Amino acid sequence: MVQMRLKAVEWLDDRLRILDQSKLPHEESFIDLVDYQDVALAIKEMKVRGAPAIGIAAAYGIALGAQSIKGENKDEFLSQLDELMQTFVSTRPTAVNLFRAISRMRKAATGGNVPEMKTALASEAKEIHEEEIEATRRLSQLGAELIKDGFTILTHCNTGALATGGYGTALGIVKAAKEQGKRISVFADETRPLLQGARLTAWELEQEGIPVTLITDSMAGYFMNQGKIDCAIVGADRIAANGDVANKIGTYTLAVLAKENSIPFYVAAPISTVDLTLPSGAEIPIEERDPKEVTHIQGIRIAPEGTNAANPAFDVTPHNYISAIITEKGMIREPYLDGLAKIAT
Ligand code: MRU
Repeated sequence: MVQMRLKAVEWLDDRLRILDQSKLPHEESFIDLVDYQDVALAIKEMKVRGAPAIGIAAAYGIALGAQSIKGENKDEFLSQLDELMQTFVSTRPTAVNLFRAISRMRKAATGGNVPEMKTALASEAKEIHEEEIEATRRLSQLGAELIKDGFTILTHCNTGALATGGYGTALGIVKAAKEQGKRISVFADETRPLLQGARLTAWELEQEGIPVTLITDSMAGYFMNQGKIDCAIVGADRIAANGDVANKIGTYTLAVLAKENSIPFYVAAPISTVDLTLPSGAEIPIEERDPKEVTHIQGIRIAPEGTNAANPAFDVTPHNYISAIITEKGMIREPYLDGLAKIAT
């Protein structure tokens, strides 16, 4: 088993250490966060990113915030706790892992006195983190069964240790397949506008010794049509009850191209990404980010001054384009409504 060298998120009891993903691959720099507001900002500014990692960071951020609340009055403590949780609610709207983590943290602060609640909150955050590590390890093992020796896998965005605080989802499957001794290689979409594929996936795969070919997003169809891709695997930020999947912008395009070219299209995600309260993808909130991320690349303007730009950070892939959803509790195929309800309740 390959050791997790990468620690995207590390709890140090009185602070949270994160690897600043906005600086990768040029700089491997860690930031120690002691104030919960800085944790919320790090999520918003995508210094820590990826659905499971956002949930984990928010949980630790809430634990940190709770530690800083003064006084022993329980009602006062809970009211301040609710307030600071709101800061996390308004960071990023699409990944449901964030909201699931916040709600678990709120439930953890019920019994006992204030110091006991603070301890319970720190334990709950650690538990959320450990559960995500275990879930991603398990789903990676299960998903690796789909990968045959010699496969070339197309992936989008970044779904490895950086995005999960654990082993990875789509990239976890790639890593597990390699550990099983299969010779595999990856085509990684660069993933505009923020280049998670070029900056993070290429970097992670290089560390793992897995051959990677970086392509621009618009090249995916060409390589599929040339017969160069055996399957596509992506992660997810929220999966609705009917199996529709929100993931990084561009995922829907890939899924349509995969179907057109008869290439299996897999989604890998822990159950913490499933949201059974939403009947379909149409109800998933899609984050709109600063248009500057489109008119500029890494701070450098590439469009004329004043150009109008749109920047939805995610899109929704309808379930009929998805060959299987791989979770830690098994692989779900159509009909997703039944399969997801069975494993996620
Ligand atoms: O905007 P990001 O970088 O947080 O988006 C990340 C993704 O879309 C990932 O594919 C998703 O969170 C799954 S990560 C295991």
